[in-house]
Amino acid sequence: MCVNKDEQKRIQEMSYTDFIALLQETNRCPGGKRTVKRIRELLHIAENTKLLEVGSNTGFTSLEFAHISPAQICGIDISAECVRVANDTKMADVQNIKDRVSFQVGSGYNIPFSEESFDIIMTGGATGFMDDKSTALKEYFRVLKTWGFLVMTPLVYHTEPPQEVLDSVSKIIGTKIIPMRASDWERKVTEENKLWELYHQEQHVLTSRADIDINTYISYFMNKQHLRSQSDEIRQAIECRWRSHINTFNENHKYLGYVIQIYRKRKIEEEPELFVTS
Ligand SMILES: C[S@@+](CC[C@H](N)C(=O)[O-])C[C@H]1O[C@@H](n2cnc3c(N)ncnc32)[C@H](O)[C@@H]1O
Repeated sequence: MCVNKDEQKRIQEMSYTDFIALLQETNRCPGGKRTVKRIRELLHIAENTKLLEVGSNTGFTSLEFAHISPAQICGIDISAECVRVANDTKMADVQNIKDRVSFQVGSGYNIPFSEESFDIIMTGGATGFMDDKSTALKEYFRVLKTWGFLVMTPLVYHTEPPQEVLDSVSKIIGTKIIPMRASDWERKVTEENKLWELYHQEQHVLTSRADIDINTYISYFMNKQHLRSQSDEIRQAIECRWRSHINTFNENHKYLGYVIQIYRKRKIEEEPELFVTS
């Protein structure tokens, strides 16, 4: 498949982020639209609800919230390029969305808003990509209103993955993966501040896919207009790299799921409950 060595090298050496940008893949939160729909079902969201997304990337989650709820939404991301794409996508949407959604460059470590500004903070998979989770959690606590909700939907491992799978995925995305379970996240958040109360959680298992599904998925990308117009050599190199990544991710998905965790910012610590449903 990979015949032209020069083209293959150029495509192979591109960063993962640049490669994804080249494919124009939609960057979704774990669970994608199902996660956003579920949060909409679980939390009351009205016209005066102020929602902050931290790590909004190219805008999928914030825009999906705007499509299915009347909230006022702001997405922040440290990547100026992601914010630019998110704003372009928003501007191509209907007026009502343009009026209610904004994207700006900002870090979860130093959120550019004052205390108690938001009713809901959403951070899908992004906090998992932050080395200093404690600083981010302090910032979430600061800008969230008391009795407001912090929603996190990180990818979690339900079964311990082999080290070689972790190494392969880490190599692709350029970040060392430290596998976390849902309970690790809960411990991290609630030990950070006793006023974080785990209000709701549900875990979802992801599954790996058959070769035929992978072939269909890759064909979808290769048939995108902007890739069809590339030379055969470039197309072959892109397909070769994409297939290799997808096969690695597919292996990883044998062990992977995601959790929807909703924390509430309390005014006072909650008294323990003894008799609860299992
Ligand atoms: C894998 S993407 C997650 C995108 C997707 N919206 C989700 O919820 O899973 C991680 C995003 O977090 C952003 N990011 C990483 N560190 C950040 C930080 N300290 N503050 C804000 N965004 C950050 C990255 O630029 C990237 O767009």
